[in-house]
Amino acid sequence: MDTSAIGQLRVFLADLRNAIGVKATGDIPLKEAFHRAFAKLPDEEVALGNVRAARLPACEHLESCYGNLSTAEPRLRDLVKSFKQIEPMLAWYNRTGSTSSSFNENHANSIVVGPGALLPSDEVQIGVTIMAPQTTYPDHRHPPEEVYIALSRGQWRQDNGPWKEPGVGGLIYNPGNIVHAMRSGQEPLFAFWCLPLS
Ligand SMILES: [Fe+2]
Repeated sequence: MDTSAIGQLRVFLADLRNAIGVKATGDIPLKEAFHRAFAKLPDEEVALGNVRAARLPACEHLESCYGNLSTAEPRLRDLVKSFKQIEPMLAWYNRTGSTSSSFNENHANSIVVGPGALLPSDEVQIGVTIMAPQTTYPDHRHPPEEVYIALSRGQWRQDNGPWKEPGVGGLIYNPGNIVHAMRSGQEPLFAFWCLPLS
């Protein structure tokens, strides 16, 4: 097995592709966005970017999310296992422009693949979010469409529609530019997201 940093990253991406791919069946726009994103992964020659690894306070909730996934289906356990290998390499950050100190303490994002990320790409962005219990990630929008996979309990909303809980391993599809938000309940929220950028 390739235990180099880039090798571990490739294993994580394969596990993420597997976890989303098995569920991306019915919803055509979701399925197409997923395939577009993963078709654009940098090829094997691309080297790791220069990223300064740093955690934020909300990362303390990762451990309980990992624990909650210890009895999940095997492909999600594989995904957690490979994510744990790459997590020490990640630079975590708060939402751009967020000045709320309580929100900033209670959430953290990291981009694994994307412009200036650990695996540099201008064509696809793949990232992760962790949020403390009882936290709402406020309405936001962005031109690229987006697929989330929930790795914890938690709820998602589009526009002013109802909050929906995809469940552990469930998927959410956000068309480009749609206003969306997410929130945690009693447990931390842990999710990965993928955006085809071109
Ligand atoms: Fe988003």
